[in-house]
Amino acid sequence: MEEIEKAKDALVLKGIEKADIGIVLGTGLERMLDLVEIKQTIPYSQIPGFPVSTVQFHKGNLIFGNIGEKKILMMQGRFHAYEGYSLDKIVLPLRVMKLLGVQKLFLSNAAGGINSNFKKGDLVIIEDHINLLYGNPLTGKNLDELGPRFPDMSEPYDPLLIRQLKQKSGALNLNLKSGVYAAVHGPNLETKAEYRYLKIIGADMVGMSTVPEVIAANHMQMPCAAVSVITDECDPDNLKPVELEEILAVAKEADEKLSKLFYETIKSL
Ligand code: HPA
Repeated sequence: MEEIEKAKDALVLKGIEKADIGIVLGTGLERMLDLVEIKQTIPYSQIPGFPVSTVQFHKGNLIFGNIGEKKILMMQGRFHAYEGYSLDKIVLPLRVMKLLGVQKLFLSNAAGGINSNFKKGDLVIIEDHINLLYGNPLTGKNLDELGPRFPDMSEPYDPLLIRQLKQKSGALNLNLKSGVYAAVHGPNLETKAEYRYLKIIGADMVGMSTVPEVIAANHMQMPCAAVSVITDECDPDNLKPVELEEILAVAKEADEKLSKLFYETIKSL
């Protein structure tokens, strides 16, 4: 709690006293930066306790700004378990957002498509998830100030936010699909046998993020919604090697649609 308060105090000193909406941008998904009215860009290295990303293509800035009337705090670059961070470190920025008044959280990520109806570049809203990370950000003494020891996870993704995103995607003529996201540790991509397994257990897509943040958000009773961009098709019977460059290129192409969807939805809240 002390660490969370310290980071919050540092942001308050920089003039960030309150925000309404939190946003976490996934790998290669940065077009939101062109849409938000940016007031401040704060490198994570200037915020005590914030981890500094180890992956070169992940930037590390906390962005404070506006979308219409809403004040937003946006993470340009997030932290992953495969980088070696503990899961509670990964969710620290979200807990700081909570102390700054953030009421709703939007997350994006790049994911592999397990469901054979999903094609590269598709946007998929996460309806539910499976935690296959070897851990949980709530491990250890419960932070009673933030939430209960045994948080409910019957609806981890807020039904109202899901409805609002779906409505807006209709108005924008985007073909928003929906599915179950499985979070794996990484950093390697999966074997054919693992993709088969993921399909059998009910996953529609797979990635290496988002679930720790969603668990922490639910713990704090912060409604959240998440959208995946399908960057590769994971058909175990026809699996081609995937290059990181290709994943980034597909994410980049879908980024405009996703950013518009988040921007318009947040503006209309
Ligand atoms: N597996 C895990 N994470 C991913 C994938 C994948 O196939 N694609 C993008 N992120």
